Amino acid sequence: MSETAKLILGDETFELPVFEGSEKEKGIDITKLRATTGGYVTLDSGYKNTGATTSAITFLDGEKGILRYRGYSIEELADKASFLEVAYLLIEGELPTKDQLDKFKHSIEHHTMVAEDMRKFYQAFPHEAHPMAVLGSLVSSLSTFYPESQNPNRSKEDVDLTIHRLIAKLPTLAAWTYKNSVRHPVVYPNNNLEYSENFLRMMFSVPAEEYKVDPVIASALNKLLILHADHEQNCSTSTVRIVGSSQANLYASVSAGISALWGPLHGGANQAVIEMLEAIKADGGDTEKWLAKAKDKNDPFRLMGFGHRVYKNFDPRATIIKKACDEVLDKLGIDDPILDIAKKMEQAALNDPYFKDRNLYPNVDFYSGIIYRAIGIPTEMFTVMFAMGRLPGWIAQWKEMLDQKQPIGRPRQIYTGANARSFVDIANR
Ligand code: SDX
Repeated sequence: MSETAKLILGDETFELPVFEGSEKEKGIDITKLRATTGGYVTLDSGYKNTGATTSAITFLDGEKGILRYRGYSIEELADKASFLEVAYLLIEGELPTKDQLDKFKHSIEHHTMVAEDMRKFYQAFPHEAHPMAVLGSLVSSLSTFYPESQNPNRSKEDVDLTIHRLIAKLPTLAAWTYKNSVRHPVVYPNNNLEYSENFLRMMFSVPAEEYKVDPVIASALNKLLILHADHEQNCSTSTVRIVGSSQANLYASVSAGISALWGPLHGGANQAVIEMLEAIKADGGDTEKWLAKAKDKNDPFRLMGFGHRVYKNFDPRATIIKKACDEVLDKLGIDDPILDIAKKMEQAALNDPYFKDRNLYPNVDFYSGIIYRAIGIPTEMFTVMFAMGRLPGWIAQWKEMLDQKQPIGRPRQIYTGANARSFVDIANR
């Protein structure tokens, strides 16, 4: 007999089925709640207690600090896999054979170019435009160059081509966004280079000097992209799924995800962390003063890069990135005072009752910006890097939602406004 939940409303008792997942997580299925109870719905601001879907892509346990993509631990994947291997795993569900990976890479390597007309979009943006605004616009505009991507009833081949085009073109669009901001000529992709190397070359090569990719940097970027690749039903992924549920095309759905990720409470935190650490450094490095500000309810300041909706223990990604920080800066011979301030802040916060009582630990964004800085990525491009990493996760979740034939997402509400009333002429108001 499977478990059920009993709901007592007045003198009626309703039995609700309990759904159990492969990791023994349990969800009370309220699919028929409104119909069986005569109109009751649930209320859960921010969906802190609501499962929007079942999913077979990513499992995380916030209490134990566990993160797995399709059953493989993030620690193993970050250490042993390439980013495109992980992208294939997330989207297709299994690690690729050599032949499958070669085909996947070949397809992606041969779609890295973007339509030359897209360069005109960059000329219309102000140079100081935030890269996330530019990237979101350009990703959405891809559907105008590939109108077949707008067809909701497309074949698997068409869906795969639309997916491969996006994975291939995002680094090009991202690098060109940066080039536009520094008024440099764009650099075209080179299909002989690995994914991360190709991006770094498009970012930093100039006509006068070809950028030489340092393997330490390419490896660090590969690891960072993997660590950001998916994270179950976070804000931007939920956005991609709900936009895609209306049968809007992949480019439009991912563009919406880019906009959601931009927020400083979400992916924009990696930029906000560095800006915070630089402010603390400029203020003399008084970490105690800034911790007090973070704890002060009358002060809007929050310790950026700390806390998480799900992780009530260490974010396993933060642990890996912190270790990579030390390795990359050491190998590159960089002594970044910002890293010292970050470590001092972390130690102070981890020993402070306010943070301990609220289970506030460093999250993925706390250290990632320090590596991006060491690589030479400008601060305003940090969230673009997050988007590049998260792309295969967004795609996998969008594809799963369609494969599950999910209905269009349309939450209910409880109305609290004015009751029915008649119109009053302006003369009588
Ligand atoms: C990402 O969901 C994902 O998976 C996201 C992500 C992914 O991979 O997709 O992991 C990526 O978005 C990481 C989070 C990046 N954001 C930040 O670093 C911004 C700073 N962190 C917070 O704003 C906050 O912790 C959130 C938004 C991340 C989580 O907020 P919640 O779950 O809504 O928690 P809350 O705001 O209700 O906070 C609970 C308490 C509150 O205090 P009390 O009302 O109980 O007294 O903790 C306090 C908050 O004031 N608090 C903080 C804090 N974070 C929470 N206080 C100071 N500094 C902080 N950073």
